[in-house]
Amino acid sequence: MVRFAKQEDLERVNELRKMVNDLHVGGKPEVFKPGFNEELKNYIYEIREDPNKDIVVAELDGVVCGYAVVAYISRPENPFMNERRFVDIDEFGVDAAFRRRGVATEMVEFVKKLTKEKGYDRLELNMWEFNRDALAFYEEVGFETYRRYMEIKL
Ligand SMILES: CC(C)(COP(=O)(O)OP(=O)(O)OC[C@H]1O[C@@H](n2cnc3c(N)ncnc32)[C@H](O)[C@@H]1OP(=O)(O)O)[C@@H](O)C(=O)NCCC(=O)NCCS
Repeated sequence: MVRFAKQEDLERVNELRKMVNDLHVGGKPEVFKPGFNEELKNYIYEIREDPNKDIVVAELDGVVCGYAVVAYISRPENPFMNERRFVDIDEFGVDAAFRRRGVATEMVEFVKKLTKEKGYDRLELNMWEFNRDALAFYEEVGFETYRRYMEIKL
């Protein structure tokens, strides 16, 4: 079952956020701060108060085992680009003990429905290239790469 997070879910959501943060620290240690600092912990409470964001959770066997943070984005037109309106998946993850049971797929379906209900017609996300599992999942549920970040380390 996928639903919006309640205040009392947020501690558990932070356990899941820590797992995702640890994965990012392992894969890109020069970018991500190790541990799960207080600021990062408290940020989820700010997100819940933000009218332009939502926190979604998935429950399986009565356990909150997945979460997504989404942001409703409107960027005004500029000399280069037309106005852009889309929903962005800022954070996303499923507890390792609950993977490959369709939890993430169900969360994406929920977010797609939410996107339409809120009057947006595009959902996007960005991800780190090392994270091949996430890429395989996102492609499986229909996301396509439309832009790339590239780097040279010197
Ligand atoms: C990526 C992630 C969210 C997938 O969650 P999940 O609940 O296991 O995904 P689902 O069960 O809905 O998977 C649906 C399909 O996606 C594909 N898929 C999912 N995980 C995959 C993996 N590790 N490798 C290859 N394909 C994968 C498969 O086709 C799968 O169907 P199948 O199980 O019948 O083969 C989960 O592995 C995760 O939380 N990873 C760590 C956190 C993370 O990377 N978050 C994203 C940060 S940008």
